[in-house]
Amino acid sequence: MNQVYREIEALFTSGVSEEYLGEDVKLVEHMLQCAALAREAGASDELVVASLLHDIGHLLIPSSVDDYDSGVDAHHDEVGAAWVADRFPAAVSEPVRLHVEAKQYLVATDPEYLSLLSEASRKTLEMQGGVFTQAQSETFISQPWARDGVQLRMWDDLGKVRNKVVPGLGAYQEAIVKLAG
Ligand SMILES: [Fe+2]
Repeated sequence: MNQVYREIEALFTSGVSEEYLGEDVKLVEHMLQCAALAREAGASDELVVASLLHDIGHLLIPSSVDDYDSGVDAHHDEVGAAWVADRFPAAVSEPVRLHVEAKQYLVATDPEYLSLLSEASRKTLEMQGGVFTQAQSETFISQPWARDGVQLRMWDDLGKVRNKVVPGLGAYQEAIVKLAG
């Protein structure tokens, strides 16, 4: 077990992880569901770990739950991505950084997508800057790892199933240790 894995384990078992952030599932359950979906889809270890850690910013910002309730965006994508970038390659941290903008991109480019979003996710869309224009969409998708960010976003939206049984954090220990090594 290495230091980074221990840090993640500590964050995943912190009290903040019990909060719901307006969704049906607890935050850590949600992150584990996203990682499981990524692994089932045959994603790279980098994208699996990105999916596992994509909302870690919420665990790092103790006020993010209160901020959410009062309609303020705590920029969990930037905070989380910076934490991940200190420990993992860009192939892990960039999809984390881009997963919120990927929602703005998908709403702008996929007419079906908005209907798939949870109520909480629609609410935060406005807090996060709203739907992208065509120019913003083109700029977004031309960035490295933007497609991985969009893929992560799809799992993000699906990983909100109450009481779904998925592997725990230990299932990702090997990938975490390898990538953070
Ligand atoms: Fe998420």
